[in-house]
Amino acid sequence: MKLFNFLSRIFRASGDLAIDLGTANTLVWHSKKGLIINEPSVVAVMEYKGVKNVVAVGNEAKKMLGRTPADVKAIRPLRDGVIADFEVAEAMLSYFIKKAMEGGNRFFRPRVVIGVPSLITPVEKRAVIEAAELAGAADVFLIEEPMAAAIGVGLPVDQPIGNMIVDIGGGTTEVAVISMAGIVCSTSLKVAGDEFDEAIVNYIRRKYSLHIGERTAEQIKINIGAAIEIEPEKSMEVFGRDAVTGIPRNIIVTQKDVVEACAEQVRAVISAIKMTLEKTPPELSADIYEKGIFFSGGGSLLRGLGILVERETGIKAHISEDALLGVVKGCAKVLEDIRLLARVNASAR
Ligand SMILES: Nc1ncnc2c1ncn2[C@@H]1O[C@H](COP(=O)(O)OP(=O)(O)OP(=O)(O)O)[C@@H](O)[C@H]1O
Ligand SMILES: [Mg+2]
Repeated sequence: MKLFNFLSRIFRASGDLAIDLGTANTLVWHSKKGLIINEPSVVAVMEYKGVKNVVAVGNEAKKMLGRTPADVKAIRPLRDGVIADFEVAEAMLSYFIKKAMEGGNRFFRPRVVIGVPSLITPVEKRAVIEAAELAGAADVFLIEEPMAAAIGVGLPVDQPIGNMIVDIGGGTTEVAVISMAGIVCSTSLKVAGDEFDEAIVNYIRRKYSLHIGERTAEQIKINIGAAIEIEPEKSMEVFGRDAVTGIPRNIIVTQKDVVEACAEQVRAVISAIKMTLEKTPPELSADIYEKGIFFSGGGSLLRGLGILVERETGIKAHISEDALLGVVKGCAKVLEDIRLLARVNASAR
């Protein structure tokens, strides 16, 4: 036993990994070095006679989105919160784990905690675990994203207290009420950042007869987007292709445009929060009413969202500045707390 403890201490010394395998971004936290990878979940693949070859992963691959020649495809292997392309998702996870372990001791394999969408199927769980093991992980644990996010924002998830977390990512919005390390009730919808972008593309095509790409739409959302009209009113110049003539031209898009474009999607998120509150047992509702609703995920950074939530529910909204780190921070905390890990581990469920 002593030898085991001694070995495990050395083993720990080489560091473990916490990973947020997100639809939009993959983040890796190293227990000794902190956040070491924060890159888009995009893989550029060249396909020849049915065989896929990975050309680039992460930042490099995202630059290629919408700009690749016919034989190279920039793929987002996770879509709508589920694994859309198994093979490519495995390749991506393996690339990030290997990159995170670069320079480390080859003989010590890390423990890895991975935040996964709560809609993931048992087969997909198996695939994620296997991909991580193949990439060199010793033990792999999975945690459902809302649980990881709640831990990440500092909620006392293992207490008999109602905690509400809303994680608005790229592919999914997950609303969950957590008490005693379990998800008491939840709602998951496939409306999040990506859908906002799509709504902006469609709106600009309808209103201005201009075709813009997904990446431009995302830039508009991040720079001037909002859930409601708030001061200061913002606008930005946008380039695209005229829907009729096909010639490139520019327009000025305003914050009001984005509010209108995303109104339906924002409504859907608010409804999901209200629906989950309605399903919540009364004792826990009282806790949530007192403490407020906590947010994580990049989508929660949409300006004015907190104000709208408070107006619609009468409950305080807490949106942290590092909302994008919620899940990975939660996974990192769990790495340090074996007892909590045992309670929230979703690997075998
Ligand atoms: N300041 C911002 N305002 C609005 N949206 C933002 C902002 N910053 C990032 N986003 C959006 O947040 C989304 C990415 O968030 P996040 O990294 O949390 O998603 P993810 O974890 O990869 O996805 P999922 O949880 O659905 O698997 C993208 O759609 C991005 O455009
Ligand atoms: Mg996420």
